[in-house]
Amino acid sequence: MSLTLENAQVDDPQGRRILGPLSLQLSESRIGVVGNNGCGKSTLLRLLAALQMPSQGCVRGFGTTTQEQGEQWPRWVGVVFQNTDHQLLFPTVIEELAFGMKQLGWPDAEARAQQALAERPGWAYRRVHELSGGEKKWVCLRAVLLMQTQVLLLDEPSSGLDQGQRRQLRAELAGLEQQQIIASHDPQDLQHCERVIWLEQGRVRAEGAASEVLEAYLDA
Ligand SMILES: Nc1ncnc2c1ncn2[C@@H]1O[C@H](COP(=O)(O)OP(=O)(O)OP(=O)(O)O)[C@@H](O)[C@H]1O
Ligand SMILES: [Mg+2]
Repeated sequence: MSLTLENAQVDDPQGRRILGPLSLQLSESRIGVVGNNGCGKSTLLRLLAALQMPSQGCVRGFGTTTQEQGEQWPRWVGVVFQNTDHQLLFPTVIEELAFGMKQLGWPDAEARAQQALAERPGWAYRRVHELSGGEKKWVCLRAVLLMQTQVLLLDEPSSGLDQGQRRQLRAELAGLEQQQIIASHDPQDLQHCERVIWLEQGRVRAEGAASEVLEAYLDA
């Protein structure tokens, strides 16, 4: 099972091309997406998350496409946004963590959320808007991991985290079985990927083994 882009293209409201056309089969268990600011990384992840529909072409997966069954996508694909403000919706940490699981219809959503907070005593009723940037990131990641989707899309997962938190995050992600597609300009986030795709102005400039593509990107 893999996500596939078929001539997928995204245009902005003025009709200017932001991404594509891209045709990619994303089957490796760790895929990195690298590229400069504005090259289309977040747009690509939004397409794969069914948060944005292609202007042309399609995104296929799970026996269907985002156009046909995008509303089912959250069952299969979890996404951690680049900007936590685009993800956090609720006043308290516990509500935030339980929400996704509730949407999936899990009766023990609240209990699972409480369990996840065992390592952060006193956090359940902390106000989300009072958390630091890195703490918000932790909540966003935790909420998505709790949903145990088959695919995880991570947009700049380590931005805003201190070194200790980055190490912990990388170790945790390395231990997960879920497929991960990670967008980042930090090569350290992508070193372990089986395949790295380098985007430039919405198109693939290069792709292949992480060491080669990241080296070429850093030299460019
Ligand atoms: N809704 C929109 N309307 C117009 N332009 C948009 C829209 N969304 C994205 N863009 C443009 O598309 C391009 C790609 O944006 P995107 O956020 O995908 O880049 P990115 O690679 O994630 O950048 P960064 O590294 O800064 O996060 C940018 O030039 C951006 O201005
Ligand atoms: Mg981005």
